[in-house]
Amino acid sequence: MLLSKEKRLFRRSVLHSFSVFSNLSNGRVCQGANSFKDKMSSIHPSIMDTESLKRRIQMPHPKNNVPESIIPKIGRNLHLLPHHPLNIVKQKIENYCQEYASKKYRNGTSQTGNALNKFEIHDNLCPLVNTKTCFDDLLVKPDHVSRRPSDTYYVNDELVLRTHTSAHQCPLIQSGTTMFLCSGDVFRRDEIDSSHYPVFHQMEGVKIFDNSELVLGDKEASLAVIESDLKEILTGLAKDLFGDVDMRWRNDYFPFTDPSFELDVFFEGEWLEVLGCGVIHNDVLKNAERSGCQGWAFGLGLERLAMVLFKIPDIRLFWTQDKRFLDQFHGLSDNPKKKVSFVPYSKFPLCYKDVSFWLPAGVPLHPNDIYEVIRSVAGDLVERVDLFDEFVNKKTNRVSHAYRITYRHMDRNLTNAEVDEVQFRLRDKLVEQLKVELR
Ligand code: DAH
Repeated sequence: MLLSKEKRLFRRSVLHSFSVFSNLSNGRVCQGANSFKDKMSSIHPSIMDTESLKRRIQMPHPKNNVPESIIPKIGRNLHLLPHHPLNIVKQKIENYCQEYASKKYRNGTSQTGNALNKFEIHDNLCPLVNTKTCFDDLLVKPDHVSRRPSDTYYVNDELVLRTHTSAHQCPLIQSGTTMFLCSGDVFRRDEIDSSHYPVFHQMEGVKIFDNSELVLGDKEASLAVIESDLKEILTGLAKDLFGDVDMRWRNDYFPFTDPSFELDVFFEGEWLEVLGCGVIHNDVLKNAERSGCQGWAFGLGLERLAMVLFKIPDIRLFWTQDKRFLDQFHGLSDNPKKKVSFVPYSKFPLCYKDVSFWLPAGVPLHPNDIYEVIRSVAGDLVERVDLFDEFVNKKTNRVSHAYRITYRHMDRNLTNAEVDEVQFRLRDKLVEQLKVELR
């Protein structure tokens, strides 16, 4: 299923206030314009606090739509695991950007006292953020589809599991940063297939320019400097990752950047979207209390890059603890130039089952609600789900949905009996939880 342009605002492929939940990884707390009053201001995104974070996320609230299946993923921090492919890609990007900064930018410190030629690295910020930094500060309209509970995990009216690492832009900019790279897990309710998973990982890059790097008193000329630097660093990054490939820049739209662009590379016979980026919108800088400053930002998806670079065919593999997967990436961190293609250790047979039902009358159900129940029962056994039939009974006005569920274990064979058992539980859960009527 292709995402509409509207929804692509937070494309997964490029990847899709607050103050207290913007605790920085070094322990500093960045004070937002509106101090958030939640007592949990001490939540710190370290491994130690994972349990209290999980408890906070599970606190009952009418708006809480975080399913139990998400909880064990909290704190896994795949991007921080040595030798994990996501960590390797993260490391490669950080190394390249630091090298670019040390060669291209001036030595010295900004007026805020931060180094002008070194990116701050933030890779362990709390994934629980508030709607102000995740959406409002970034100029995402109140009625934008990405804010809907059908797309976003809410803990209560104000707290969400971050839907993108851009959620940290304003608090970090407000802290006085000159530049940073921020990576972490992000959470979205979405469809089920080989490239969609409710938790994935992104990296956000931001540079705020010092006056000494711009053309004083000439906003237009300064804009040209910023745009050209943005394109230079990102073209270099794409070359570093993909080799000497063709690239193209396309104009794009994000509410938080103006102008906005997307970078595509021609890799192994097809054009791939690599990242989204742009010049930071003035109003975003205003929200971060840095009016008058100018800068650029980019965002990319680590899974997407790792899947292409290492030929990893299914996004569920990133979560496996099977040594046959993980061992293939050993030694790469020390030898980043080495090329690795993942060799599937086996392709186990798939098995599919259909389920069809009448939706409950008068209750709006989103396919994402169905996908979530399927995930909660079948977990990583489910490879993809397709809504293959949908119709309205003209007499009763009831809506029917039919889904095909493809089951395949990544590490072993599944027996038919095992799949049947899961499918029965799934049918029961759909009835119990969503009040559908099985057909
Ligand atoms: N947050 C966007 C997403 O999730 C990605 C992105 C696009 C980040 C453009 C940026 C940017 O900083 O400038 O799809």
